[in-house]
Amino acid sequence: MQQEAQWLQALEKDALRLQSKSLSEWVAMHHSARCVALPEFVYDYTKNFIDDTALNTLLAFLQCRNFTEKRNDLFSGAIVNFSENRPALHTALRDLSAAALTVQGENIIPKIKTERQRFLKLADELRTGTFQGAANLPIQDVIHLGIGGSDLGPRMVSQALSHLKSKHINVHYVANSDVADLIAVLSQCNPKQTLVVISSKSFTTQETILNADFVFNWLKQTLGSAANTHLYAVTAQHHKAREYGVPGNHIFAMWDWVGGRFSMWGATGFPIAIQIGSEAFMAFLQGAFTADTHFRDADPAANIPVLMGLLDFWYANFFNAHSKTVLPYAENLALLPDYLQQLQMESNGKSVTQTGEKLQLRSSMILWGKAGSHGQHAFHQLFFQGKHFIPLDIILAANVSHQSAPHQQLTLANALSQAKALMQGQDETLPCKQVRGNQPSQFFLLKSLSPWHLGMLCAFYEHKVFVESVLLDINPFDQWGVELGKTLSRSFQAILSGKVFYDEDASSKKLLETLRTWQHDD
Ligand code: F6P
Repeated sequence: MQQEAQWLQALEKDALRLQSKSLSEWVAMHHSARCVALPEFVYDYTKNFIDDTALNTLLAFLQCRNFTEKRNDLFSGAIVNFSENRPALHTALRDLSAAALTVQGENIIPKIKTERQRFLKLADELRTGTFQGAANLPIQDVIHLGIGGSDLGPRMVSQALSHLKSKHINVHYVANSDVADLIAVLSQCNPKQTLVVISSKSFTTQETILNADFVFNWLKQTLGSAANTHLYAVTAQHHKAREYGVPGNHIFAMWDWVGGRFSMWGATGFPIAIQIGSEAFMAFLQGAFTADTHFRDADPAANIPVLMGLLDFWYANFFNAHSKTVLPYAENLALLPDYLQQLQMESNGKSVTQTGEKLQLRSSMILWGKAGSHGQHAFHQLFFQGKHFIPLDIILAANVSHQSAPHQQLTLANALSQAKALMQGQDETLPCKQVRGNQPSQFFLLKSLSPWHLGMLCAFYEHKVFVESVLLDINPFDQWGVELGKTLSRSFQAILSGKVFYDEDASSKKLLETLRTWQHDD
């Protein structure tokens, strides 16, 4: 404890020292870039308020949080999610080594492989148009129902790799409890040629089950008693899916030792596999596995997720940064910030430590972002002249699937120039033209936007979240906070359906009364 306090004090001094000069001045002192270069993946963090002294202090603080042991625990299947008494073994889902991994006396690798083979086989059949439904017609559409971790990762990856889509099958993602999305999708589908995947680890999430009920009825109207043969499920609650009516051999397993937001590497990734095929899905896993190996084996001072975690922790706690922005300069990665929002904020948006004490440090920054270029004509003004200190992550792919050199050149130039302008700022006589500069950015340069590169990028972000949680001494693998909202929603549903009388706070009462009047008016 005492040692931790000493490192924190040292970090405060380091921060003051680094803030005494501009970011451009610090960067000018570097003889070469600060980066970690892996084959076809470069992480460049030169444009940051960091020097060897501060980096070493951050690393020392990380080590006094027992980072090495905690990282070993993560990979080896020890309990790391203490509030739920579970391991967090998302890395096992993409462990492509031949090694065994034992959880509670059982080697889990064979069952991961078996489940993967099952969903990949079906994915390939769907992708090649060879899979027929109850009406002996080929399946053309898959409607994927799920929300949060059972939606954001697969949806983002499917969009990012949409160039690998097969002409035989369309995958539609529906998550919202507002039925508008679902209706729009159903209007494009023929029930005789549509499969439905209900993806829910708990198989109790209301939005998902409500949407499933709606689609199940839609299927029944055409297929009658054969409707359930068009239902598939991805869940850790096999019996609940069975009770619902999903045939047993249509259920793909999740396990309680993988958190929902970390689960797209297993059966949650089934819709990704339908979209890109089994071979590309395996490349996606291979990219993540390469990132795992790097995270596990590389020296912390040259370890990409370690550096990412240290920098975010550094800025949140010593530079008063409240938010960070992720800008993928690739339209196909437009959903990356949405996916990262859950990964980052559901994991590290906490205020108690692993032992239940009040957290003294600032936990997760607010993460937001958008595909690059758009923001330059919208919100970048605030980066340039606003008062917030906002670190950026910029993701760039040297090669993208579409073929227009001028477009790609402009996109890349935009990313590079924004980072430079944000770093250096501009001195002008007219105050309204002064640009503050001093906004740091981390660069992720991918050789191409392939399944392998994307797998690697996502796994780096997962491990970054873990590193940050170690620095903060919080549990990144639970999400108890969201339960209150779910409980209250059930009460409001009962009130709205007229089942119970309400005695709510004045504001809720007013809103409920207005809603009731207006709903009756219609
Ligand atoms: O309510 C939050 C949450 O539990 C997330 O953690 C999870 O990813 C999402 O809901 C969906 O949960 P499920 O997969 O159980 O439907």
